[in-house]
Amino acid sequence: MMHLRCNAPGCGTTLELHVHALACPKCGDLLEVVMERPQREPCDLKKIWRERRASHRVLDQSGIWRFRELLPFDYADSDVVTLFEGNVALVRGFKSADWAGVTDLRFKHLGWNPTGSFKDLGMTAAITEARFTGAKTVACASTGNTAASLAAYAARGGIQARVYLPAGQASANKLAQALDFGAEVVQVAGSFDQALDTLLAQSEADLQFLNSINPFRIEGQKTAMLELLEQLEWNVPDYLVVPGGNLGNSSSFGKAFRELKEFGFIEHVPRLVIVQAAGANPLAQMWRSGSGELWPVTSPETVATAIRIGNPRSWRKALQAIHYTNGVVMDVTDAEIGEAKAVIGRDGIGCEPASATTLAGIRKLAAAGEMDRDARIVAVLTGHALKDTDYIIHSQEQRAGSV
Ligand code: F0G
Repeated sequence: MMHLRCNAPGCGTTLELHVHALACPKCGDLLEVVMERPQREPCDLKKIWRERRASHRVLDQSGIWRFRELLPFDYADSDVVTLFEGNVALVRGFKSADWAGVTDLRFKHLGWNPTGSFKDLGMTAAITEARFTGAKTVACASTGNTAASLAAYAARGGIQARVYLPAGQASANKLAQALDFGAEVVQVAGSFDQALDTLLAQSEADLQFLNSINPFRIEGQKTAMLELLEQLEWNVPDYLVVPGGNLGNSSSFGKAFRELKEFGFIEHVPRLVIVQAAGANPLAQMWRSGSGELWPVTSPETVATAIRIGNPRSWRKALQAIHYTNGVVMDVTDAEIGEAKAVIGRDGIGCEPASATTLAGIRKLAAAGEMDRDARIVAVLTGHALKDTDYIIHSQEQRAGSV
């Protein structure tokens, strides 16, 4: 039976799948969904998943739910809250590859989802579960994208939404989305970390928390890797590069690779590279120091507001993913992010600043000889270019002014 299990080594507390718990009742660590080996063979499932793209069943048209054999899915079709998320492009980045000094670079653009970020992949799963377990109000702390996504899916599912944002720090575009979808917006003085603490201190009985510490979010986000591998005809790339903020996404990708390998879908896994912004880099600092504990950055600061996070809650899971995939953790400066973002724009793709950490990171690794120039690389772009238009206009103005 699928169930929830505490992620802390040596604890192993288990809970039923639908209890709605965010933390282990014994030790307080994060929970994860324990999947069962699917009943069908990997080669059959790969075929079924692909064929579902031609199906008219709503569940099959979602790029998340067509992979339901690897998700906690024991719902009726009508229980599922979907906006037809997933099924996004994998695009070659030619100019980006040249700029970074590599030859084989693809972008998996998760910003090309209904609300413009990867959050939709986890949100369809988390809102479906919240509604299934009777939630009246759902809430999250957010640097903006989770808020926009939660607001949209809650509206879709007929549930009240409340979002806690660091006051004055989320981009206007993301705030506008949350308002458009009818969420109640609470502005909290401080950074994302304070907003999350404020949320976690709420004790209303029927309020459900949908940050990425929610294990169902992680499950939905996992499917990005299934879809990616399907697009690569299940030829595993050498590197998978992802921005790191609260570290939910990297945790989910690590879980996806672990399950795919354990269940026989792939024989080896890509090396995971997590790239943080230098002003919000607690995991990169920890990695460099070789320490076993994470020291939060108390005043995180970066132009990539989506990842302006000093105390990432999923760091242990992300670190497990790094160890499992023989991965790397690193950081890049705001100037490097700005340059990389402009190059991705020139490829006609575009992304928000946080996503550009990936290309900046690849360039740095290639220049240092730590990444083979002919490696097969996939960089995950997490947010749409229109998520932070102020940033684009200001940086273009600065460039024009400096000519
Ligand atoms: N990229 C974008 C565009 C994001 O919005 C986020 C996180 C990340 C990367 C980092 O992902 O937290 O899973 O490591 N945004 C959250 C939010 C925190 O509230 O929208 P992570």
